[in-house]
Amino acid sequence: MVLAGLLDLLSIHYPIIQAPMAGGVSTPLLAAEVSEAGGLGMIGAGYLNPNETRKQIREVKSRTIKPFGVNLFIPEKTFWAEGETRKAYDALEAFRFKLGVESSYSTSSADHYKEQLEIIIEEGAPICTFTFGLPSDEEIQLLKEKNIVLIATATTVEEAKLAERKGMDAVVVQGSEAGGHRGTFLHTMEEGLVGLISLVPQAADRVNIPLIAAGGIMDSRGINAVLCLGAQAAQLGTAFLTCKESGANPVHKKAVLSATEEQTVVTKVFSGKYARGIYNNFIKEMEEADAAVAPFPIQNSFTGGIRKEAARQNNPGYMSLWSGQSPRLSRDVSAFELMQSLVAGLNCNNE
Ligand SMILES: Cc1cc2nc3c(=O)[nH]c(=O)nc-3n(C[C@H](O)[C@H](O)[C@H](O)COP(=O)(O)O)c2cc1C
Repeated sequence: MVLAGLLDLLSIHYPIIQAPMAGGVSTPLLAAEVSEAGGLGMIGAGYLNPNETRKQIREVKSRTIKPFGVNLFIPEKTFWAEGETRKAYDALEAFRFKLGVESSYSTSSADHYKEQLEIIIEEGAPICTFTFGLPSDEEIQLLKEKNIVLIATATTVEEAKLAERKGMDAVVVQGSEAGGHRGTFLHTMEEGLVGLISLVPQAADRVNIPLIAAGGIMDSRGINAVLCLGAQAAQLGTAFLTCKESGANPVHKKAVLSATEEQTVVTKVFSGKYARGIYNNFIKEMEEADAAVAPFPIQNSFTGGIRKEAARQNNPGYMSLWSGQSPRLSRDVSAFELMQSLVAGLNCNNE
């Protein structure tokens, strides 16, 4: 198994990457602990404003001198008629009423992507990863001139090939098992739902840049399996979500720790973009009502107050409980303990 390529590129010791988890789940402390333990810690900067982005980068740098990465969302261009957007907002009225959330209609959603790129360069973050698409040619060139390692997210071989053609240094191949948002950008959601055991070897046969496998991997068995299939590292989200250092709401952690493999679904009712999470009342009621859903990120801001209030009320029924398909393997441990057990079971020890 040749792992040196990616590990050298990222200057890390073990083929283990903590997935960026935007929305407060991945914290600077979590990222620093994973990097300190020889993996790659990631900041999920997707929803952060420029100040918060800089603050998180600085906090990681203050906690570790090891490499870490920053993940950004490629902004979406959404065109939706005002009437349609209003319909999606009104469809949420019953939830606002139920939870006691005040109504305040606004479709503005700030996009800080360009400023975040500047901050990543200014702060000298060594690695930058992307989801929901690819950066522009100019952005790729600029970041490469600054020696920043660039990693894309793909859910099909076509997407991975495009990432390679555009000059990305590596690509996360995200299987259908994965928790959180789908990175699909060339295909429909259904087309992009390819299982990891199919995706990794097919991508490995057609793509020359290193592959990082993501989706349902929770322990060293999963890591060894994807390395066998042709990946050079594994990216784990749900496994780190239940760690002590994760910023996930305790209600979310508890839901994942007690969930089973058939309880997650892929839905766009929370954010307007398809994501995998634990089935709950909000998904059920939105589906039963066949409710209008605004595109990402408008729907995400529409449901923000509902999700926040549900969390405050310790009510998992109306929160977005992102989880991959392997929640039975989740554990309530520290990031260091998780890293230790992952490393202990690796077949390729890289020593
Ligand atoms: C709570 C949560 C938030 C996530 N947020 C992001 C994100 O901000 N950026 C990203 O590229 N991937 C994100 N992901 C997806 C992960 O990168 C990865 O594909 C996924 O966690 C792998 O599946 P697993 O959760 O079964 O390990 C998120 C996943 C979860 C569970």
